[in-house]
Amino acid sequence: MSTLDPARTARDVTLRLNGRAATFSVEPEVTLLDLLRERAGLTGSKKGCDRGQCGACTVLVNGRRTLSCLALALAHDGDAVTTIEGLAENGVLHAMQSAFIEHDAFQCGYCTPGQILSAVAVVAEGRAHGDEAIREAMSGNVCRCGAYPNIVAAIAAVQVAS
Ligand code: FES
Ligand code: FES
Repeated sequence: MSTLDPARTARDVTLRLNGRAATFSVEPEVTLLDLLRERAGLTGSKKGCDRGQCGACTVLVNGRRTLSCLALALAHDGDAVTTIEGLAENGVLHAMQSAFIEHDAFQCGYCTPGQILSAVAVVAEGRAHGDEAIREAMSGNVCRCGAYPNIVAAIAAVQVAS
């Protein structure tokens, strides 16, 4: 007799992952973060706290920032997911990536992919007007190195240029 628990049976989930359709077989408990890192090989999204508190795992789902450690992969069948690996186009860095480099907005870099994806969304949401507004909108992304002033400067520069 099989001991397989039907609730754990894998199902297919298809994502539009960084612009390309990709299908994965995943068990119900697999998070979007684990799918990205361990099954898609996209390790740019980082696992910091794994409980929704640090923002290191932030990706864009249908253009909205999402904590991938709290998202179940199966719930995102058919969704468009953008990770840090998908931001550059044809070898040209996204303006936010360039701004982070220009403004020295990282030290160890562990939080940086999540910071950049959040920052892209904050500008798109029209919430990047002024340092206080940027700090408030980015408050879910924690940087243990304390690179915050330079992160704010990078985001402000992209907002001004956009
Ligand atoms: S790893 Fe997802 S919020 Fe920290
Ligand atoms: S640059 Fe190190 S945690 Fe942010």
